[in-house]
Amino acid sequence: MSWLHCIECGERYSSNDPRYTCECGGLLEVRYEEVPSRADFSGPPGVWRYSSVLPLETADSVTLHEGGTPLYDADKLSDEIGVEIHVKHEGMNPTGSFKDRGMTVGVSKAIELGIERVACASTGNTSAALAAYGAAADIPAVVLLPQGKVAMGKVAQALMHGAQLIELDGNFDECLRIVRDLAEEGFFYVLNSINPYRLEGQKTIAFEVLEQMNWEVPDRVVLPIGNAGNISAIYKGFREFYHAGIIDEMPMMTGVQAEGASPLVGALQKGGKLKPFESPETKATAIRIGDPVNAPKAREAISETDGTATSVTDEELMDAQVKLAQREGIGVEPASATSVAGVKKLLNDGVIDSTETVVCVTTGHLLKDPDAALEASGDTIKTDATHEAVRQALD
Ligand code: F0G
Repeated sequence: MSWLHCIECGERYSSNDPRYTCECGGLLEVRYEEVPSRADFSGPPGVWRYSSVLPLETADSVTLHEGGTPLYDADKLSDEIGVEIHVKHEGMNPTGSFKDRGMTVGVSKAIELGIERVACASTGNTSAALAAYGAAADIPAVVLLPQGKVAMGKVAQALMHGAQLIELDGNFDECLRIVRDLAEEGFFYVLNSINPYRLEGQKTIAFEVLEQMNWEVPDRVVLPIGNAGNISAIYKGFREFYHAGIIDEMPMMTGVQAEGASPLVGALQKGGKLKPFESPETKATAIRIGDPVNAPKAREAISETDGTATSVTDEELMDAQVKLAQREGIGVEPASATSVAGVKKLLNDGVIDSTETVVCVTTGHLLKDPDAALEASGDTIKTDATHEAVRQALD
């Protein structure tokens, strides 16, 4: 049994109510009658292993076998940076990002609610996931994208899975505002991270990390922040297990933004209201977001766990992307590498202690953005097609 709870005023709404926010404007989250128990988790690794604490009540799940992603011990990177780093590689999901965890739950819930068309605004990954799960569920999907600012792999995925793509001459924040307005007019159901059901799928990252670490709680979980949904979702996952007594401490939730799109970092440093970035800019296009809608949830996640947020330059995040790829064999997209770049920076600043155990969540796969990968990693060697020419090149 679940319901929707307003994080601002505590108002309660039925789980059959397809709403995104409270009458008071506050964000909603899903609450449950059931208390999670380790004994309830069964089946293979993946999101639906935790179905006892997911909000689906009657419908079958729409699944592409998402979740169950690897947690790597990044030993060489740990030695180099100076702190124990594990990498939870969400790029290993069916469409190559953590969004699949959200979409399997969000699209399933949409079917349960009798929705006939789904939509999102996207910097790319959400659109790829929505398109794939929309196809699997046989429900039409509409995507609004900031024109010219979405990595090639993601556009190709969304088109190939049959979504209707509309490119706007504007940024992500403008796309999201328009999607939300059109949803109010009844055009479709929104599956951005403003949707509380979608975030329920993403909270399973916390559950998996705990199982993979043998129920040892890491000191810190570090991840990129764009619209601030994922940090809120992962925090909620840990919090549910904490309240159920399954774990007895919380990790410090730590968010990393790209410098040119870092309104949340500014708000946390200065206190007070978040001041949106009107024209966010970064090579990490996935997190090129100036007005994160889930900021209130993310602020709670960070403050309640003694966590923090920081920003990194494009140069720093590209350097971390190359290090993950070349030292560890872990291929991630630029936004995902902010996690490792952020750890390096916070360690240098004395915020992270060298004795900590840190989990970096790498949110999307290297192949999402081939152009960025080529830019960060250098050029090929071109030769004549002769034995001698290749020998010379090898020298
Ligand atoms: N990393 C990647 C690879 C992403 O695609 C996103 C968000 C984030 C991190 C940030 O997550 O928004 O929950 O804080 N991408 C969205 C999209 C906005 O449209 O694909 P967040």
